Amino acid sequence: MHKNIAIYPGSFDPPTNGHLDLIERGSKIFDELVVAILRNPEKSPLFNVTERVAMLEALTSQYGNVRVDTFDGLTVDYAARIGASSVLRGIRALSDYEYELQMALMNRRLRPELETVFMMPADKYSYLSSRLVREVAQLGGSVKGLVPELVEQNLRGKMDPAFKLAEFTATPEVTSAARKSRTRKKA
Ligand code: PNS
Repeated sequence: MHKNIAIYPGSFDPPTNGHLDLIERGSKIFDELVVAILRNPEKSPLFNVTERVAMLEALTSQYGNVRVDTFDGLTVDYAARIGASSVLRGIRALSDYEYELQMALMNRRLRPELETVFMMPADKYSYLSSRLVREVAQLGGSVKGLVPELVEQNLRGKMDPAFKLAEFTATPEVTSAARKSRTRKKA
């Protein structure tokens, strides 16, 4: 039987609750949903591709029909390579529409048989973007409730490498080193 495969392409730097909301919605309407992280050598991301893959794999492990992959080059070519017939994109506010329309129509021109499907995340996430999450976290603000706990922890790790070490190894020596380093920073 023909499988209805969709890709959900993006940067996901970092994944937010808005992305996860869309993944859940997408997983309900497609047979298979591939979360496709763009490997963009020009950008200097906060999280490297390996870190983003690991986070998204952990965050989507409960969906039997969702998998995570990376790609470079054109989205339409990647979609064709894996036999996807749709591209899933989220539209939050009217301000997203123009860019998304341009992209959808360009993709249609490049590959007419690939359909772009827009879905709206829950309205509580309508102002949420990875860029704002990065900015708020980097300036010391709270992103609780806007990103999954795993992402929140990893953001904290990015801001304080000693804390990250503690999260991943959690030996008493490292934990105490991280605590000391945090105390020093606060002082
Ligand atoms: O999460 P983002 O940054 O809004 O995602 C943008 C993305 C990755 C979907 C877009 O930049 C993209 O498709 N890039 C791949 C290159 C490509 O196909 N460009 C032509 C798009 S019309």
